[in-house]
Formats: sequence, C-alpha cells, structure tokens
Amino acid sequence: MQITRRPRRLRKNEIVRKMVRETKLNLEDLVYPLFVVEGEKIKNEISSMPGNYHFSIDMLLQEVDLLIGLGIDKIMLFGIPDDKDPVGTQGYAEDGIIQEGVKSLKETFGDKIYIITDVCMCEYTSHGHCGILDCKGYVQNDITLEYLGKTALSHAKAGADMVAPSDMMDGRVGYIRQVLDANGFENVPIMAYSAKYSSAYYGPFREAAGSAPSFGDRKSYQMDPANSREAILEAALDMEEGADIIMVKPALSYLDIICKIKEISEVPVAAYNVSGEYSMLKMAVEKGLMNEDVILETLLSMKRAGADIIITYFAKELAGKI
Ligand code: PBG
Ligand code: ZN
Repeated sequence: MQITRRPRRLRKNEIVRKMVRETKLNLEDLVYPLFVVEGEKIKNEISSMPGNYHFSIDMLLQEVDLLIGLGIDKIMLFGIPDDKDPVGTQGYAEDGIIQEGVKSLKETFGDKIYIITDVCMCEYTSHGHCGILDCKGYVQNDITLEYLGKTALSHAKAGADMVAPSDMMDGRVGYIRQVLDANGFENVPIMAYSAKYSSAYYGPFREAAGSAPSFGDRKSYQMDPANSREAILEAALDMEEGADIIMVKPALSYLDIICKIKEISEVPVAAYNVSGEYSMLKMAVEKGLMNEDVILETLLSMKRAGADIIITYFAKELAGKI
C-alpha cells in the first residue's frame, strides 16, 4: 500500500509541532475574576471554588499587587454586600462594596490594573433575581434597565475601566451605553454577556456570591441551553446596541456557540470559563483522576473555538506556565 499523505511527519518532535501549532494560549488573553466583601482583614477560601477567596478591600489590594507581579493585569470584579433588599440598593450605592473596591484599587494601582465590573442585580437583591420583580415574581425588563444604568454609571464614576452587564434584560447594552455617554463616560467599553445560558454550571458561583434565586429559576431571562440561533440573535442585537466585546457563557458546553458567534462578530469574542467548569476540573486534578494538563487543554479548546478573551479562575495558577 502506498501512503502519500502522512500528517505524522509534522508531529515528529516539539520543535516542528510548535512551528505548525495553530492556536496558542497567552496570559494576555485571560481575565481573572475576584470577589470583594465588606469588612477588614478577610481572606476566606470559597469552599465551592477551591483556591478562590472572599477578600475585604485591604486584602484585595494585597492580592492585586501579587497578581500584577505575576503578569495578570485584568480582573473581573464581583461585589458581595452585607445588606440586600428587593431593589438591590447596594448595587448602585456610591459607597457600595464594589464602588469602594474599585476606588481603592485605582488609587493604589492606577492603570497597572484593568478593572472590569460585573453589572447585575442578583448579588444585591434579597430575592436573588437579576432584576426588579412584579407582584407575581416576574422579572420586569424595562424597569430593571433603569437600575442597571445607575449601577453601570456608579461603577464608571468609581473608576471601572469596563462594565460587563450579565443580567440578560433586552435592550440593556443600548440603555447602559446611553447613560454612560450622557455622563461623559463615552470611552468606557461594554463587554456584554450576550449569550448567557441558564446553566447549572453557575452553582459554585452562586454559593460564593450568595446569589442563588430564593424562588424559581432564571429561565425567563437567561437562554435555553437547547438554542443556538438565538445566541446569534442576542449577539447581533448587542453589537447593534453598541457592545464593544461580546461574551458566551458558560464556555465548555457551548464551544459551538463561540464558534458560530465568532463567524458573525465584528468585535472581539470572550468566553467565560465559569465556576462549575473550574471546580469540576480543579477537584478532578486534586483527586488525581486527571493530570493538570487537562486545564490547558480545556482552555485551549475555547481559544480554538474562537474566543479572543477567556475569563477564568485558572488565570492565577497559569501565570508563569503559559
Ligand atoms: C451574575 C453572574 C453569574 C455569573 C457571573 N455573573 C451567576 C448567575 O447568573 O447566576 C456566573 C459566574 C460563574 O459561574 O463563574 N448574573
Ligand atoms: Zn445576575
């Protein structure tokens, strides 16, 4: 038998393999999520997400100092307030936990750290939903926009470099864009959680953020995992409304969505390697079921699918390795 095409020729050793490698993961591609809580001297490990912590602002400053030293200069900040109420007042309070955290980080590190803030209500509402409820418990779209606008503006005023709305209300990107522009923040970009699915992979995060809905689920606003054309619609709408970056979330079970959105996107595409994806691999490696190469392999699959940016809890441990 005559074999003429032999792909193995280019796999002979690492030098040639590297030469023909199509995709590479860089530290610059990664954004590291962090959780900030009220109080002082707090650095508590989050049990559902080993290796991740709740930081009070003083400890957050220490952590970010370390991260900058490791070459991680982009963070996604989540605030966890002490007080929650039905309209999530602490989410847009001028002295709220996230606003104070951003101010302190910017005072200390200036442009050495790029801060992306998560804009949503679920960490701040007593009912844990991502918006304002009507009397039947339905999340009202248009009223919620006003709160999201106030929240995004308060983040920008505190010094956030970029805002990332994760609520999945219709029209929020356009609304937030208008509010930011009307207040002189036309240069603050919006990273839209465009295709955010209603996913069980957020479980560990909800425990970390205390943001699980107290009743019902998020299916009336987050996307149905069965749908892919709808993701294209969401991405197209967000681009029309002015999104600077669009995101797919979760990442691992939605690589097909990343791929499809990349094909139509005029802006960079981000993938959120969410808490459940993190914790399942982390625990599997800790238990010795798989070796840690599985982490790079998994993140690489997101890049290969088309993600330009990956938001991942693995960023810190990958510093120095990629
Ligand atoms: C808030 C928000 C969530 C995540 C990011 N922003 C949780 C949710 O929608 O319930 C999930 C992040 C993760 O699981 O790592 N809307
Ligand atoms: Zn939310």
